[in-house]
Amino acid sequence: MALRLGDIAPDFEQESSEGRIRFHDWLGEGWGVLFSHPADYTPVCTTELGLTAKLKEEFAKRKVKAIALSVDSVESHKGWIQDINDTQSTSVNFPILADSDRKVSELYDMIHPNANETLTVRSLFVIDPKKKVRLIITYPASTGRNFNEILRVIDSLQLTDHHSVATPGNWQDGDDVVIVPSLQDEEVIRQKFPKGYKAVRPYLRLTPQPNK
Ligand code: BEZ
Repeated sequence: MALRLGDIAPDFEQESSEGRIRFHDWLGEGWGVLFSHPADYTPVCTTELGLTAKLKEEFAKRKVKAIALSVDSVESHKGWIQDINDTQSTSVNFPILADSDRKVSELYDMIHPNANETLTVRSLFVIDPKKKVRLIITYPASTGRNFNEILRVIDSLQLTDHHSVATPGNWQDGDDVVIVPSLQDEEVIRQKFPKGYKAVRPYLRLTPQPNK
């Protein structure tokens, strides 16, 4: 059965451009982003991996490690990484799983046979420190992902895990957030949100982002 939000991200051992990886050990205590690509030496993937490398500091600030995957060999990955570094003016600073036997692709349901029988689609999983899957997105091969959106969702997850809020559509870090509808006790609300809130409707209560 396909993975769903809240499931434990399946553990695995696989080769990568940085050696053999035992996934849960490699994740450690932090967050992870596991994302697949159709194949090495493809144009859209090349730009995506370059972008991810350039966002290393942004991922690190949020205690997130990135790991990519395609169904090619370690040798192929190593050659491709040189190309990515040259063409994207960066230095790939995260591992790429060499999933030639499709062990991980099948475990994570990254091959969608009606889209392509052998290649992985653009799957992406955000995994939290308890190894739970917190975001799943699937893009077609022809559309590169927006990695700033991935960071935005991670910001939202990390905020909403610690405060009784949710983030509205198009929210960006620093914008107002909404108080979760389940929180009704005015005294508790006053304690949790000392900056106050604006009730646009009884169910739509906006408050300044509590951790800013
Ligand atoms: C790419 O990654 O560039 C790509 C892969 C498959 C189809 C189209 C583009």
